[in-house]
Order: sequence, then structure tokens, then C-alpha cells
Amino acid sequence: MRLLVLGGTKNLGRHVVEAALRDGHDVTLFNRGLTNPELFPEVRRLVGERAAPDVLATGEWDGVIDMSGFLVPQVRRSAELLRDRVGHYTYMSSIAVYASKVTPGMDESAPLLDWPDGAPEDEFTMDIYGPSKVRCESLLSATFGERAAAVRSGFVVGPYNPDFGNWGTALAHETRMESAARPSQPVQYVDARDLADFLLRLTTERVSGPFNAVGPTRTMAELADAWRSVVPDAAPVDWSPAVDRFHLPHDGSNDGTFRLDNRRALAAGLRLRADEEIARDYVAWVQDGNVPPPPPH
Ligand SMILES: NC(=O)c1ccc[n+]([C@@H]2O[C@H](COP(=O)([O-])OP(=O)(O)OC[C@H]3O[C@@H](n4cnc5c(N)ncnc54)[C@H](OP(=O)(O)O)[C@@H]3O)[C@@H](O)[C@H]2O)c1
Repeated sequence: MRLLVLGGTKNLGRHVVEAALRDGHDVTLFNRGLTNPELFPEVRRLVGERAAPDVLATGEWDGVIDMSGFLVPQVRRSAELLRDRVGHYTYMSSIAVYASKVTPGMDESAPLLDWPDGAPEDEFTMDIYGPSKVRCESLLSATFGERAAAVRSGFVVGPYNPDFGNWGTALAHETRMESAARPSQPVQYVDARDLADFLLRLTTERVSGPFNAVGPTRTMAELADAWRSVVPDAAPVDWSPAVDRFHLPHDGSNDGTFRLDNRRALAAGLRLRADEEIARDYVAWVQDGNVPPPPPH
């Protein structure tokens, strides 16, 4: 398939490009050429800004995977430009779209965030991250109809991606894993490679609608045990670290965010590798000399 990837060179997007090349797709990248410009020298590049994507004004693709859509006006502009020249549009969204952070078992039909009063659409702040994803999903659905999909994920782990606080690095270097979340904190995550395969699958199979692309819920303690099991004699987890790593509120006010219903994504083909495999591969990647980017949490 002729595939256009908006982004594609940082954390998640590079897995998408790797998966697409592995499967023999004809990939075009659109980005500014600033992030890891040495990657994928064999791939055609369209260099440009999302704010002024004139370079997208010509060309035809069977599918688009949009990894770099944060601001509503920018996503609207590329959607308008591409509407009649692409097949399927798969948008990387987020679990931050949901209005409730406490309701357990939310599926894709759960209420979404409203737009914050008076907030401008074109100035990125974390306050508009979730609401912008909501608006982008909505405008893409209005523009592309059944040709649009939106993928909602939260924590993403794997090579090139920030791990859980210091977990991968700690296991690789035989130091203590740290977590500022309570051990009973529910958590969901997805391996970046599984997420990339899912984004690609939705696009090549032209599947529409929103999807919670997250793994099963477990507690932080269960997850830590699974990760610790991949190295011999792993040290106990430090649950009260001096540094604020892997922080999640202790009062349960964010628990619903990690009790999402992922059955729609599983039915559409999301494959989830085991925690132990994810941890083992991540630790091996660090032991090979790779340095994870700074964790955002
Ligand atoms: N845990 C997570 O990381 C997580 C969870 C849920 C959802 N997401 C979503 O996943 C996506 C981000 O993943 P990622 O950063 O790993 O994606 P990526 O596709 O690997 O990296 C971002 C890409 O966007 C390009 N880009 C950035 N600003 C641009 C601009 N103004 N104009 C044109 N291109 C631009 C960058 O290249 P240049 O710098 O060279 O332009 C880079 O290729 C986002 O949509 C995010 O909301 C992430």
C-alpha cells in the first residue's frame, strides 16, 4: 500500500515506519526533518511544517497514519488537503480524551472531554492535549467518515520509548526500580511494536472508528513483579522514591484512566505481547547501549 506517515521518526512513529517497511509498503514521510533525520534513508520524505503543509498538496496515498497531530487547526488543514487523495486516515489519539478519570470499564462510547472555556485552539498546552485529541478525532470522522480510525493509548513502552520511570534501566544495570504510584494502582500499557502493528492493521484493512489500544489492567505491583522476573535476583521496588518517578495520584483520582475496556481493539486485531517479553526486550535494548529518552511521567 502507498502509505503516508505524518511524523514517524521519534518514539512511536518509528515503529510504525519499521513495521510498514517490514511488510513491504511504499512509505512516504512528512515531517520537518529535525528529529532523527538520519532514519530511513531509503524512504521518500516530504519536508514541511504541520502549520503549513503545502507539500501535501499533491500526491495520492492509500492510507495515512497521523502521529503528529496535536493542534486542531493543523489537523483540519491536512485533512482538508488530503481528503480526496487518500484512502484511509488513521489518527494517533490518546486515552486523555475521556471526560471521566475515575469510571471503571469505559469503552469507546464513554463521554469525552469538552473544550475548556476560552482556550485558543492553536497554542499547545497540556490543558488542551485531551480536548484537542477529541476535536481532531471528531473533525477527521466528519471529513473521512468510514475512512477514519482513531487509536487511543496511554503508556507506551518499548525500544526508543520512555520506559516506566527508571524500570528498564534499573533492571539492565541491577539497580532498584522506582515508582511513586501506590502498589495497588491499576495500570494499563501497550508495547510500542504492538501499537505500531495495530495502527498499520487498521489502515491496511480500512477499519473505522475509535479504539482503546491498551493492554489488560493489572496493579502496579503485579506489573513490577512481571518486569522483575526477567532478571535474576532483581532488587525490591522502591515505592517511595526521593525523585518523583512514575508518579500517579495515590487517591484513586486517575484509576478509571487505567481500567479501560479494550475489547473493541482486541476484536479488530490488537495483539498484546506478554509483560515478560516486553520487559526482556526492553532490558536487552538498554544493555545493548541504548539510552531511553526521558520519561514524561
Ligand atoms: N506514551 C506516548 O508517547 C503516547 C501515548 C498516547 C498517544 N501518543 C500520541 O502519539 C503521537 C506521538 O508519538 P511520537 O512522538 O512517538 O511520534 P513520532 O511520529 O515518532 O514523532 C513525532 C514526529 O512528528 C514530527 N513533527 C513534530 N512536530 C512537527 C511539525 N510541527 N510539523 C511537522 N512534523 C512535525 C517529528 O519530526 P520533526 O521534528 O523532524 O518534524 C517526528 O517525526 C502523538 O500524537 C501523541 O499524542 C503518545
